[in-house]
Amino acid sequence: MKAQQRFRAAIIGSGKVGSVLGRLLVESGHQVLAVISRTPASARKAGRFIGCRNTGVRLDAIPSSVNLVIIATPHDAISSVVEALAAVDHVRWRSVVVCHASGMHTDAVLAPLRKQAAVTFSFHPLQTFPRDFAPQEIVDRARGIYYGVDGTARGIARARRLAKALKGHVVEIPPSMREFYHASCVVASNHLTTLLWVVEKMSAALGFGGRKSMQMFQPIIDATLHNVCMTSPTRALSGPVARGGVETVASHFEAVERVLPDLIPYFLCMTEETMRLANAKGSLTEARASALASLLASYRGLSQRRKEKS
Ligand SMILES: NC(=O)c1ccc[n+]([C@@H]2O[C@H](COP(=O)([O-])OP(=O)(O)OC[C@H]3O[C@@H](n4cnc5c(N)ncnc54)[C@H](OP(=O)(O)O)[C@@H]3O)[C@@H](O)[C@H]2O)c1
Repeated sequence: MKAQQRFRAAIIGSGKVGSVLGRLLVESGHQVLAVISRTPASARKAGRFIGCRNTGVRLDAIPSSVNLVIIATPHDAISSVVEALAAVDHVRWRSVVVCHASGMHTDAVLAPLRKQAAVTFSFHPLQTFPRDFAPQEIVDRARGIYYGVDGTARGIARARRLAKALKGHVVEIPPSMREFYHASCVVASNHLTTLLWVVEKMSAALGFGGRKSMQMFQPIIDATLHNVCMTSPTRALSGPVARGGVETVASHFEAVERVLPDLIPYFLCMTEETMRLANAKGSLTEARASALASLLASYRGLSQRRKEKS
């Protein structure tokens, strides 16, 4: 790689995202010249993982030769970090691109740096970086991901270059849809995790706790994800709701009510949404859809009465 094509980056915020993006940059032949965080130990730890010795807590440690700054602090710290960066005058901001990794903020939060002539863009890795996992456990899954971005045309062009350096892709998110986009990421990861927690609880009630619960369900989970991703949720849907198997669905509700009644609101909400999916698939007759709707209405009433009592 030619020297002028190489990113010379500073990472601000040495958590999971900063550590992983820094490591991916270095793996691709780019340089990380500084890792700055709130605490020295955290910056040092990330520096070791990334392969950067220049770590610390002061923005002064950013060398003047950087051409990329990635802000990977929690989203509520970004504004103050940007203000502080804009006051760093040994960096030639007109030769620097600056981005942040927040899913909630747009490029707007970087305005003070744009005023200093830096090229800016938001750059949200559309991946989960769980707090309880070490960066080395996350890094493999961070290759080939999408980054939700917004910014000026110049900013987007630089975002594409950065995504390419990280072996990923860019998806442009209109600023007005930023929160909605982030909500969709929450559904894809956090809600999916909650759904799997429900599976774990049902499995425990069957007598299979701990790792066994996820192991025995993993093949059906993997196949479902595979089928959905290869085709679509509509094509991949199978099971009693899709078939209009009202008697089976009614028996499921009775069983859940008997074994884990706390799950009824969840079961109701998911069965209702699955019905919408089955309707989109065109697999429900009107009569079956109406019988299912009556069944759901009776459990909704029960759920409501229970709520009022408690
Ligand atoms: N976690 C995810 O799944 C995920 C996914 C996509 C995007 N993001 C976004 O990526 C960003 C980072 O997330 P993360 O999960 O990596 O967070 P994290 O693990 O909590 O790390 C944040 C890091 O920022 C440092 N920090 C906090 N305030 C700072 C400040 N004022 N100046 C410098 N450093 C500061 C913290 O330092 P110390 O360790 O020194 O205290 C910490 O290391 C957030 O904007 C988040 O929304 C997260």
